[in-house]
Amino acid sequence: MSTSLCDDFLSGLNAVLGGAAKPVALHEPEFAGREWELVKDCLDTGWVSSVGRYVDEFEDRLAAYTGARHAVSAVNGTAALHAALLCAGVGRDDEVLLPTLTFIATANAVAYCGAIPHFADSAADNLGLDPQALAARLDEIAEPVADGWRNRQTGRRLAAVVPMHVFGHPVDMAALLDVCGRYGLPVVEDAAESLGSRIGGKHTGTFGLVGTLSFNGNKTITTGGGGAILTDDAEMGKRLKHLTTTARVKHQWEFLHDEVGYNYRMPNLNAALGCAQMERLPEMLARKRRLAAAYHAAFDGKPGFRAVREPEGCEGNYWLNAVVLTEPDRAARDACLQAAADAGYQCRPLWRLMHHLPMYESCPHGPLPVAERLEAGLINIPSSAKLGGGS
Ligand SMILES: Cc1ncc(COP(=O)(O)O)c(C=O)c1O
Repeated sequence: MSTSLCDDFLSGLNAVLGGAAKPVALHEPEFAGREWELVKDCLDTGWVSSVGRYVDEFEDRLAAYTGARHAVSAVNGTAALHAALLCAGVGRDDEVLLPTLTFIATANAVAYCGAIPHFADSAADNLGLDPQALAARLDEIAEPVADGWRNRQTGRRLAAVVPMHVFGHPVDMAALLDVCGRYGLPVVEDAAESLGSRIGGKHTGTFGLVGTLSFNGNKTITTGGGGAILTDDAEMGKRLKHLTTTARVKHQWEFLHDEVGYNYRMPNLNAALGCAQMERLPEMLARKRRLAAAYHAAFDGKPGFRAVREPEGCEGNYWLNAVVLTEPDRAARDACLQAAADAGYQCRPLWRLMHHLPMYESCPHGPLPVAERLEAGLINIPSSAKLGGGS
């Protein structure tokens, strides 16, 4: 059974990628615009470090593109998420609800605040935090206290909810905000993977109190390493900029800092790369959509697989395409991964679920059956924009 599954998997990949030069990477960056010119400008002028005009320009471009009132750049997406959680009020010994199905950075950023992750299950269709599972969990464990809600089982304050838009597929934010509103919980969106993904025209990362992006080398656009925080709240925007720039108080020559801040600044060199990449984002997204459509056509007739699609009413960025085995089975999944590797296609399984990792295995969580099934059966397949054809 596994052999024919592998054959079907390979024939799906070959139908789309057969003509591509091997090996085919999972996701590659592309520098086909003004990247060289803008980075050279930094080198020519000496503005390579943590301030410069490209930092401001990149933040302006991000705000304009996403529709967020304020965008604050950061050294990477993990730092952006850490700062966002701190500014949302997450502190030591708080509990933060998040999906177990996420990249490690989401849980780590919670731990950096001294808070404890509390894992909830995911939705099978869009792979993101499931509002119904979250509601069921909160109904079971949350009790009101004078200043909000706490977990009656652990006694800890419930401080925030962190949905993550997995591989760029938007979470059902309307339902999630409804649940969080009932419990007065601020929403910090981890939109690291979803630049270009929208729900009813509104960009992901702009639904909660704050949202964060990543521009790591494997993302839809890259600044080498980098991240950003989005918010509509002017005070929050100011506070985020302050905290991520060493909490320095403006003065002509004095070095004054009014709290323990962070050096989470994005260097101008990286921001220059980001400005050039932003110019090509719409075109790269169009090619990623073409690639996704080709995968859907290739896998739709194969009963052993389900290709993950953007949810209805949403526009996904198809950062990483994924297929899920209809009968999840780790051995069959690994056989498919091996067959793909042998054929020159770089594929990968889902991240190990957070509650299966040693540092988070004792964290509280609700039932996680959907995430467990996805972990056993999901495979990411090559997704670079260039595989979607010429520009
Ligand atoms: C879901 C998620 N959150 C956070 C991050 C962290 O971003 P960075 O690698 O830029 O620190 C990433 C990706 O790398 C991610 O995929």
